[in-house]
Amino acid sequence: MSRADLIAALSWQVDLGADEAIQEVPVDRFAEPAVAARSAGVEVPRAASGPTGAEVIARQKEGDAEGRAGELAKAASTLEDLHKAMAGWDGSDLKKGAKNCVFADGSPGAHLMIIGEAPGADEDRQGKPFVGRAGQLLDKMLAAIGLDRNAEDPATSAYIANILPWRPPGNRTPSEREVALFLPFIERHIELAQPRFLFTIGNTPTKALLGTQTGIKRMRGRWQRHDASGLPLLPSFHPAYLLRQPAEKRLTWQDLQALRRALDGDAPDVEG
Ligand code: URA
Repeated sequence: MSRADLIAALSWQVDLGADEAIQEVPVDRFAEPAVAARSAGVEVPRAASGPTGAEVIARQKEGDAEGRAGELAKAASTLEDLHKAMAGWDGSDLKKGAKNCVFADGSPGAHLMIIGEAPGADEDRQGKPFVGRAGQLLDKMLAAIGLDRNAEDPATSAYIANILPWRPPGNRTPSEREVALFLPFIERHIELAQPRFLFTIGNTPTKALLGTQTGIKRMRGRWQRHDASGLPLLPSFHPAYLLRQPAEKRLTWQDLQALRRALDGDAPDVEG
């Protein structure tokens, strides 16, 4: 095959949505003994259903990675420690495809902590959360209730992080497995940042922190309790969604006003 043919074959796969290489070299399934035997007409019994050896090893590794993430997160006694631990942790392949570990932005210690999903291309490039178009809208939303992520006063600033610190390839939604792997880090992040209120924007952070399967359209605007920290948590729409569905800004404005009231000292009416 010529170089041009190879590039054309690759771009065809990318067009079909294959944006991630999962192994360094292709696997020739036809060379596997059972497949070769079957194609030669030999009856080879199928294995009883159950995980293959490779699957067992992969699951074991994932379990190890999860355990290790929990240990590393617990051992971090400052935000700086936690940042280093997350940047150095190799338990997820997402790290291999990203440029930067996107840890947080804004003022640690702010009364409000905002939690998004995962960095996009701009965030990956700059190493900061919410700096692209969605981030600009988020800044406007904060300004509308008198907050600024760069303010020094904890009462008027905000602290911003994501469930995942690494950009998923092609900006795809993180899998449940990936979210579960990174959960110990964001839980510890919340503990160390010590906000008074959590604002989860979009489905991924809301489901991850509340352990619910209920979608954001039903959850938004309803104060919940974040079990791990005991903090009141308000789910709302993700600004990227608002860029696509500007009519939903009306409901988001209600959520922002609810946040404002809580920050002003009105105890939120937490469900449950
Ligand atoms: N979307 C997110 O959820 N987080 C970012 O940091 C940027 C876009």
